[in-house]
Order: sequence, then C-alpha cells, then structure tokens
Amino acid sequence: MKEYLKNLINNDTEFLNLINDLITNDTVLQMKNFRQHYETTCFDHCLTVSYYCYLICKKYNLDYKSAARAGMLHDLFLYDWRIRQPDRKGLHAFTHGKTACQNACKLFNLNSKEKDMIIKHMWPVTPIFPSSLEGLILTFVDKYSALSESFDILKSRLFMKRTFRYTYALLSLIILKF
Ligand SMILES: [Fe+2]
Ligand SMILES: [Fe+2]
Repeated sequence: MKEYLKNLINNDTEFLNLINDLITNDTVLQMKNFRQHYETTCFDHCLTVSYYCYLICKKYNLDYKSAARAGMLHDLFLYDWRIRQPDRKGLHAFTHGKTACQNACKLFNLNSKEKDMIIKHMWPVTPIFPSSLEGLILTFVDKYSALSESFDILKSRLFMKRTFRYTYALLSLIILKF
C-alpha cells in the first residue's frame, strides 16, 4: 500500500472507528497472509477498497458505513487463489464473493446491503447486478484498485528491462518533439 494512503487511513479516525471490529478480528487479520495482486496482500487490498468506497459514498451522501464494512470484507475468502484446491468447486472469480460473504457472516452481523455488496462485487464477471448504488461503487473501486496494484508492479518490472527503458525514452523524446 502506498505510504500516502496509509497515512490518510491512519489519520481518519471516523473511518477507522467504522471498521475497527473488523480490522482487529483474528480471522480478518489472516488476510495479511495471502497475496491478492502481486505484492499487495488481501488485507491491504480490502482496506484500500474499503477506504475509497467510504470516501466516495460519504461525498455523495450514501450509506458510507455499509460501504466501508462491505469493502473491508469483500475478499474474505482466506486461501491462495493461485493454487487450485481440490475441495473448492468452481472458478475463483465466480465463487469467491459468496465464500467471502459466508465467512463474514460467521463473524459479524451484516445487513442485507452489505451481504449483497460482497456477493455481487465481481459484476460484470458474475452476471447479477448489485442491488445498491454502494454495491455498484464497490465493483468499480475494486477493479480500479486491482488495476492500480498490478500496474505499479508491472511498470517497475518492465523498467528493469533495458529494451523497455530505451523504447520508453525514445518514445518520450518523439512525443516531446511534437
Ligand atoms: Fe474479489
Ligand atoms: Fe477485491
């Protein structure tokens, strides 16, 4: 997680109070043991999604409490999705929303909106549209965060390759000249 985002979250007491029982729960903390996108842990990914959902929903007078809580729990599936496990039926992309909701319901009292948001957060990969605006926001924030977490690493890896660096420098020069 980027340092500026970590500082923003650590200084936002209202946000932290909304999810304090979640981020101090032993099962939720286990998400720190699983990578979500490249170097980002599942926990950090969920915390990022939760915070952006909270900010957006608060700005537009939506249910920011449910947005923060569903965002934090939306990927509580607790396994390495890269490794195929014999007891898991179906593809991760299609099933983990439901798994995360089941796991979350065992630990916390979720309202119907939060459950719906978690189950349907993979839309449009899964076809059922979220029932709330907060749920729709979660689907977009989740994809944005996934792209941003992946893009930063891909960019730094590509920059390690000399040919990419030269091509990038050359293209920059051409663009600047015009
Ligand atoms: Fe997910
Ligand atoms: Fe996610």
